[in-house]
Amino acid sequence: MDAPELVQRARDARGNAYAPYSDYRVGAALLTDDGRVFTGVNVENASYGLTVCAERSAIFTAVAAGARSFQAIAVATEDGASCCGACRQVLFEFGGNTIVYLAPADGAWKTTTVANLLPEAFGPDA
Ligand code: THU
Repeated sequence: MDAPELVQRARDARGNAYAPYSDYRVGAALLTDDGRVFTGVNVENASYGLTVCAERSAIFTAVAAGARSFQAIAVATEDGASCCGACRQVLFEFGGNTIVYLAPADGAWKTTTVANLLPEAFGPDA
């Protein structure tokens, strides 16, 4: 699966985000090394601190299905914002080389890596 397809999967997933408090909807699509795609969305809660981000939702779903090696993750937001620190750390657990596409609702996305987003990280090999 190429980058445009993965970004589209994240944009499609974003439609299922549950974000009635922030009204900031996020979709993620995570591509495994063996070609599977797992999607996630942010899921907010009336007890705000219980919110789970789209990226971690996708990662946990993938891990639950037995996947642990990830080629890339696409993150779709309105404005192309980057992953929060918690999601960077959780992504790093499974490898710094994972490619990250940060996609706004319309137009071009930014391409980076987990290692670039989390320099000098603490991780499983640290
Ligand atoms: N959010 C994500 O889903 N991923 C991120 O990396 C940043 C923030 C969500 C959490 C919350 O539901 C909303 O965006 C506003 O912070």
